[in-house]
Amino acid sequence: MATVRLVQLKALLLRRGGTASPPPPRALFIGPNRGIRAFSSTMSPPSKAVVYEEHGPPDTVCKLKELPPVPIKDDDVCVKMLAAPINPSDINRIQGVYPVRPPVPAIGGYEGVGEVHSVGSAVTGLGPGDWVIPSPPSSGTWQTYAVKEQSVWHKIDKRTPMEYAATITVNPLTALRMLEDFVDLKSGDAVVQNGATSIVGQCIIQLARVRGIRSINVIRDRAGSDEVKEKLKKLGADEVFTEGQLEVKNVKSLLADIAEPALGFNCVGGNAASLVLKFLKQGGTMVTYGGMSKKPITVSTSSFIFKDLSLRGFWLQKWLTSDKAEECRDMIDYLLSLTSSGELRYDMELVPFNQFTSALDKALGKLGSQPKQVIKF
Ligand SMILES: NC(=O)c1ccc[n+]([C@@H]2O[C@H](COP(=O)([O-])OP(=O)(O)OC[C@H]3O[C@@H](n4cnc5c(N)ncnc54)[C@H](OP(=O)(O)O)[C@@H]3O)[C@@H](O)[C@H]2O)c1
Repeated sequence: MATVRLVQLKALLLRRGGTASPPPPRALFIGPNRGIRAFSSTMSPPSKAVVYEEHGPPDTVCKLKELPPVPIKDDDVCVKMLAAPINPSDINRIQGVYPVRPPVPAIGGYEGVGEVHSVGSAVTGLGPGDWVIPSPPSSGTWQTYAVKEQSVWHKIDKRTPMEYAATITVNPLTALRMLEDFVDLKSGDAVVQNGATSIVGQCIIQLARVRGIRSINVIRDRAGSDEVKEKLKKLGADEVFTEGQLEVKNVKSLLADIAEPALGFNCVGGNAASLVLKFLKQGGTMVTYGGMSKKPITVSTSSFIFKDLSLRGFWLQKWLTSDKAEECRDMIDYLLSLTSSGELRYDMELVPFNQFTSALDKALGKLGSQPKQVIKF
């Protein structure tokens, strides 16, 4: 068992540094007095990381581990992580149900922000103190020091609030792309979505508003729904309905002066997806990008025959692999500029790293609806 663990840890370390060869033996020592050991200038500091050695329930398989220093190769940048969110897809990767996931053992997390700690001899354009995000996102952000090639990192404005920098890619970029890529929307048009309280949902509301597009939003029934509705309206939502409110014959009769939407977004499935379909106009499109309720989507035959609805899907990770790195960074800069101008904001809770377990419980939904959990290292 000990040998297996050692082999696994070595594999993990190789990946952590993205290296082909293991670090020199002196750097592998992990012990209580490690603080006074002399590190070579080409080694990273040790890293505290959320590691999972097998797939399974995140609250069971995730362990906090001290990882030894790894070499910083010529082309590498060692980043002291500042913050990283717990996204639903991070949870799915740990559970082993996400289509693309790092081999175990692995460090959790896929996006985040950090400050450059040190750079390899061939690195240009990045130096200690710079703030960077992995762009496109890259696995292993739930740790105090990440070492990755310079090409992974995108320098951002240090004045950006760290929680926005940490979360700007996975969800806001998804919202941006989905608004752009499926239906040619013009100012005055409308979109409909469920899961409106999610970060993606909050971003859709605001990015739509920036373009003069109106939004119809569906949320789960809950105590305090009026407060949630008010919050979403402050972000620019035109209409917000609980699922229960939509148990009427003709949902469109609830809309006052909003155009029938040609585009809808679904991240929930089940009844919440049917509600999005009900709002869509003739020939409309529903884009599914998540399945939070784990329930299937049911579509009536008549929706196809008489309404000619289209069902599409969106997956950011697929979009990013198709040669989009440069474009991705331009969009990230655009999205960050919207956060600076106050046109894009969303609910988050910054949680100290030593409270990771309770943040994970919240992200797993154990405590009911919660704001996005963002770990502060
Ligand atoms: N396809 C892609 O490329 C892509 C990219 C980014 C995100 N996503 C997906 O988008 C969705 C939202 O992600 P996020 O990070 O923005 O979410 P988030 O901020 O973490 O919020 C979670 C959302 O899920 C809802 N929810 C949680 N459990 C639910 C359940 N059992 N039934 C119905 N709704 C439930 C919550 O509603 P309450 O407020 O009512 O609790 C909240 O709106 C996720 O499914 C995620 O996987 C997909």
